[in-house]
Amino acid sequence: MSRRAVVLSGSRPTGRQHLGNYWGVVRNWIGLSEQYDCYYCLADWHMLTTGYEEVSALQRNILDTILDWLAAGLDPEKCVIFKQSDVPEHAELALLLGMVTPLSWLENNPTWKEQLQELAKTKLSKLQEQGAREERTATAAQQHELRTFGFLGYPVLQAADILLYRGEKVPVGQDQLPHLELSREIARKFNSIFGQVFPEPLPILSETPRLPGTDGRKMSKSYGNAVDIDETSESLQAKVMSMYTDPKKIKATTPGHPDPGPENPPGCVVYALHKLYNPQWAEVGAKCRAGELGCVQDKKDLLGILDKPFSEFRQRRQTYASDPRRVEKILEDGAKKARAVAVETMKEVRRAMRLKA
Ligand code: TRP
Repeated sequence: MSRRAVVLSGSRPTGRQHLGNYWGVVRNWIGLSEQYDCYYCLADWHMLTTGYEEVSALQRNILDTILDWLAAGLDPEKCVIFKQSDVPEHAELALLLGMVTPLSWLENNPTWKEQLQELAKTKLSKLQEQGAREERTATAAQQHELRTFGFLGYPVLQAADILLYRGEKVPVGQDQLPHLELSREIARKFNSIFGQVFPEPLPILSETPRLPGTDGRKMSKSYGNAVDIDETSESLQAKVMSMYTDPKKIKATTPGHPDPGPENPPGCVVYALHKLYNPQWAEVGAKCRAGELGCVQDKKDLLGILDKPFSEFRQRRQTYASDPRRVEKILEDGAKKARAVAVETMKEVRRAMRLKA
């Protein structure tokens, strides 16, 4: 039997997952589990690279993230789901890879530069928000140092995540390509000094459809426009009924502009969801353009279509949420399987670096 290629991907445990996470990440992971040896890593250490002083919600967020992955249909029988901090070899490999990684590669990483700016902005606004109310928190935020060794080394840790499993394919979104390029460069540099140990991991770019949030901007937790995987039917209804459509479509009979374009730059959010969930989406668009379908009816139709997938999410989430021991066991088993591979890779790494005879 021919060997299946190794797929590794990871995600920071940000908490409740939304449809953007589902369509952009988890859905692809589920598909790849059928074809490859897949390892999916809850990157809790990565979470600390930026959020090291916000750890009070970390455990809750880890649990919510994994519950939502399971609710979305990620199957622990078909892939290895594990938590980074349960496999300490990630830290050892990151340390050793750090020995060969020039600082200039990290300082020129576009994500590092952008995130420094982004984080500085959010910290500042938090600071202003909290300043008046809670002086103590404000001081903590003020002292939050962003230019840390850990944050600069984010891509080295990510390279370790991948190379520890000799990951060959890495499903990621566009935004992660610079990180993956760094992983490849680090692997190449390591191999050129110590001998061939690691394959150079290639991205599998997910064909992520643009998924707008309820207000038409990119779906994001921080914008408050997200539709979560575990919405109740009431909250889902409220969100769908409030979705951005086409402000120029005043009456049901006014011809609408469902697609993003000059007439309606963000495009109708309800239509974007029809495209994902409704095989008859083209007809919906045609009727809207012809002024034969009003937004309220359109939203009700969408709700009817979303009912089934969301009930499935909810049911599965409930099953796992009511059985914490089962979830713990999934992570324990995942860590065991991941470690078995990690330990073998580290033996080879230590030999290659003459740390062991
Ligand atoms: N940096 C990734 C993100 O923010 C998460 C991540 C951590 C990752 N380790 C990884 C992705 C390994 C791919 C492979 O989305």
